[in-house]
Order: sequence, then structure tokens, then C-alpha cells
Amino acid sequence: MSNRLKVTPNDLSAFWMPFTANRQFKQAPRMFVSAKDMHYTTSDGRKVLDGTAGLWCVNAGHCRPKITEAIQSQAAELDYAPAFQMGHPIVFELANRLVDIAPKGMDHVFFTNSGSESVETALKMAIAYHRVKGEGSRTRLIGRERGYHGVNFGGISVGGIVTNRKMFGTLLGGVDHLPHTHLPEKNAFSKGVPEHGAELANELERLVTLHDASTIAAVIVEPVAGSTGVILPPKGYLQKLREICTKHGILLIFDEVITGFGRLGAPFAADYFGVTPDIMTTAKGVSNGVIPMGAVFVKKEIHDAFMTGPEHMIEFFHGYTYSGNPIACAAALGTLDTYKDEGLLTRGEELAPYWEDALHSLKGEPHVIDIRNIGLIGAIELAPIAGSPTKRAFSAFVKAFERGALIRTTGDIIALSPPLIITKGQINELIDLVREVLRSID
Ligand SMILES: Cc1ncc(COP(=O)(O)O)c(C=O)c1O
Repeated sequence: MSNRLKVTPNDLSAFWMPFTANRQFKQAPRMFVSAKDMHYTTSDGRKVLDGTAGLWCVNAGHCRPKITEAIQSQAAELDYAPAFQMGHPIVFELANRLVDIAPKGMDHVFFTNSGSESVETALKMAIAYHRVKGEGSRTRLIGRERGYHGVNFGGISVGGIVTNRKMFGTLLGGVDHLPHTHLPEKNAFSKGVPEHGAELANELERLVTLHDASTIAAVIVEPVAGSTGVILPPKGYLQKLREICTKHGILLIFDEVITGFGRLGAPFAADYFGVTPDIMTTAKGVSNGVIPMGAVFVKKEIHDAFMTGPEHMIEFFHGYTYSGNPIACAAALGTLDTYKDEGLLTRGEELAPYWEDALHSLKGEPHVIDIRNIGLIGAIELAPIAGSPTKRAFSAFVKAFERGALIRTTGDIIALSPPLIITKGQINELIDLVREVLRSID
């Protein structure tokens, strides 16, 4: 008998779970067995309200018919086509549809399978771009403290989360970091983007002075940092970064893996803030999280710079076996149709004021030291238990799950990012449940 057949449903040990406290989980498993629209169903038959769109990805809600049908029929028609030196129609259709909704000037799309791969792709593109332009000394990459850009070596190198970096050696060389923009002493309980801190973008000038612009390829930031606990860009900060990058010929990469596809109430954060980067990384919402997919959007000048040399030669030595996989493309097209039919890429704009009021009604509840919000994102920062950081938020997460809501915690911060189909009634339900949880934990 193969090993696979010996595994029984209650055998949890073989699977080494990602970003999970494995031992704690396996003592008290939390299992979802199905999902529909705004809810999951647990293995013991309870409904759980999805306060986090899965992992910031199920923007259209769960098991939506157009997406499910598109996947089913594509799987029966063309399951796979080689991604290199061959094509299939719907990957081109999808690229066109994505470019149609992208910020103006982002005319080309490179497909990947995840946010982490989108980030690696963007970083490599930036370095290679300068080289094909004759500026091969521009290899340095600038990230930001508390940034999250996935888990591959490039991403953790430009990222700024110590737990994600410290176990993995020397990482990439030639990387520097901007300071993060979390200034609770000045900005606590701000509604929307905070007033203070735009001047932190000037730190880029300091790094340019230190390293010289001729060594710097790109700056990568999340327009709104999500995974590190929702850190917002101060008013004017992104505009300043854009100006400084342009002045010094440095490419600006926006990592829109969570902000893309309607999360802020506009299709992309670039639209929301009115700042266009040179490269934009996305994943998650591009296929509603249903099939792994990422997409890197690129300005025409960058793409065109590679289109030189003999025409039979590969222009960019990069790609994945599953770049533009037909079934992932079908899922993405079904997703874009659903977003369009239901106006989801801008629905967050009309719901944002209600969301903001609901979230800020938690001010004054036990342990709450800050509340932040933008679009359909919210964060509730808790005072840590002395000597046991993260413990308080983790017990909030477990209690919320037991009471019927999925929330996400990082450090001592509760982060909320519900599917964009959430109703006002469900916002009330989610926030009231969080309120009860805060009152119930130590
Ligand atoms: C901004 C950002 N970049 C990259 C990633 C990595 O995406 P993935 O987990 O699909 O590799 C994430 C995931 O949360 C993210 O939030």
C-alpha cells in the first residue's frame, strides 16, 4: 500500500504547515471544510464570517459561480500548455483585460504564481532593465523596514520583518532600507492616511547620497503595508518617493499584492493615491485566491527596452512553468467578470466611511492602543502582554474563531480585510464580535 493510502483523515503530523504554530494547531485544529460568499463552514458545522478575505485574497467572496464555472470548463478543454515558446488564447486575453484596468501607462503583464514570485520577477526586471539600457552598475535595491514582500530570498532581503529574515543567513547583498512610517506617538487613531511623516520619504535622498544613484536599481514599497500590521503612508509620502525616484532614475516598484484589485476602493493603490510606479506586483485578488496566480505590471518603456537584439533570441531569461497556466487564467477571467458585474473594484469607496466609523467605535475597548483604516482595511493594535508579545492578539484570534469570525493577527495587531462583498450588517456583526472578544481576553 502506498504511504498516501495509509494517511487517515485525523493524521495531522505529515503536513508541516506554513506560517503556523504547528504544535499548538495540531493539539486544537481549526479546520474549514467549505465556504460560500462571506462565510466559511468549519469541520464541526459552524459558520465563520470571513473578516480577512482568506489571506487578503478572496476579494469577490467564496465559491462564486463565474469563477467556479470558468475553472471547470477550462480544465476540461485545455488543462496545460507550455509557458515557454508556446501560447494559448486566454493568457493573451487576460493580459489585455488586466492592462485595461491598470493605471495608465502600465501596458504589459508578466505572469507568475504568487506574490513572492511577482516580487522576485520585479526585482530581476529592474536590475536587468538598467543593464539593457547600459547602466549595469545600478544593482542596489532599496526596501523598507517592516515591509513584507513574500518569502523568497529577494523578497525577504528587501523586506523588513526581522522574524522573516534572521533565520536565513546573509540574504541578498546590496540592499538597503528606508525607515518604516509607523508613528503611533503622532498618528494614533488617525482616520485614513495619517497627517505626520511624509518627510520620512526624504530618507531616500540620504541613501542616494550614501550609495550614489548610479548604483541603485529600484525602490520597492507596499503602498499600504499589510502583513506587518497595516501601516499607512503618511499624506504626501508616496508622491515624494515618486519624485525622488524620478529625479535619480531609480525605478519605483509598488508591491500591490494586497492593495490591488479593489481593496482600497479603487482598482489599485496607484489609482487611489494618484501615484504611478514603474512596476507593480500583484497576486491574490487577480484570481480571487482560488488558483495560484500573480501578475507583474510594467510600463511600456521598461518592456520595450528589452525588445532589442536578434528576434529569435529570448529577451528576458525568466519565467515559470506555470506562468499564465490556462486554468489560472480562466479563474482570473471569471474573477474579473465578477468584479465588473458587481462593481467590486470600487465598492470599497462607498463602504469605507461606514467601515471607518465601525472600526473606530472600538476606541476605548480593553487593550486597544491604536486603530488604523483605509479602504476596506482595518487594524486594531493591542497593548502587548508584558514579556509575552503576540500572545494577547493570538488569543483574540482563537476566541474570534470560536465565536464565529476569522480575523488575522500579526504581532499584537488585529488586521481586518473582508471580502469586498461585505454588507453593512456584516460589518456590524464583525466589529461587534471583535468588541466581545476584546472584552473577554486578558
Ligand atoms: C505585499 C505582499 N507582497 C508579497 C506577498 C507574498 O505573496 P505570496 O504569499 O502569494 O507569495 C504578500 C503576501 O501576503 C504581500 O502581502
